[in-house]
Amino acid sequence: MNDMEGSALIQLRDIRKAYPSGNGELEVLRDISLSVNEGELVAITGESGCGKSTLLNLIGGLDRPSEGEVLSCGFPVSRLSEKALTDYRNKSLGFVFQFHFLLKDFNALENVVMPALIGGEKKSRALDRGAELLDRVGLGERKDHFPSQLSGGERQRVALARALINDPRLIMADEPTGNLDEKNSRLVEEILFELTREFNKTLLLVTHDPVLAGKGSRRLHLTQGGVQEL
Ligand SMILES: Nc1ncnc2c1ncn2[C@@H]1O[C@H](COP(=O)(O)OP(=O)(O)OP(=O)(O)O)[C@@H](O)[C@H]1O
Ligand SMILES: [Mg+2]
Repeated sequence: MNDMEGSALIQLRDIRKAYPSGNGELEVLRDISLSVNEGELVAITGESGCGKSTLLNLIGGLDRPSEGEVLSCGFPVSRLSEKALTDYRNKSLGFVFQFHFLLKDFNALENVVMPALIGGEKKSRALDRGAELLDRVGLGERKDHFPSQLSGGERQRVALARALINDPRLIMADEPTGNLDEKNSRLVEEILFELTREFNKTLLLVTHDPVLAGKGSRRLHLTQGGVQEL
């Protein structure tokens, strides 16, 4: 059997994840098997603490499963060396978190192009593409502003441009609008869906917001019992 069947971009096989806890362990994910095709926009919901961020961390290679296998973007993620994981994350993934994680001493454009420069892209090319992406997220006039000079919603739009700079196949967003008010949430969401669709990305979006969850092409609900298609 091939590692990646059909057009599946992500495959999780019989995933179990437990963390050490006291004398025993805390089992967070059990029997999770899942396949996501290229181009799907998947919204993931579930109660706080059910393991949504853990699931994204396993797919993003930030953590390893206790059992089972994670395949993503052609890589056997759960079996990769740390060095190969760094390369996978830089080239194939774009992350947007609830907190923006922008570097405070760098302006918006410098933050956006950082992953491209780390990946070995020529500076002039990275800056051109970064500027284009900032235009696309509506921040063309704010390229030289520092994170402290931007609003919460603007910072998240910079973070989105940064997630797209290396043209990754997979975008993972973990409650990207969790810290924003209604109006800014809707704006960030609109741009997120517009750009992931236009650039033909696959999106995994964790959200507590049912309106946002309804905007994807597929909806998964995570519970103690496993993962449920809604
Ligand atoms: N590194 C860790 N060590 C021990 N326990 C952990 C670790 N990371 C997460 N957990 C526990 O695993 C469970 C799932 O956490 P996770 O962050 O995946 O939940 P979540 O669904 O993202 O929740 P939320 O909606 O609040 O963000 C929680 O009980 C959490 O305390
Ligand atoms: Mg979480």
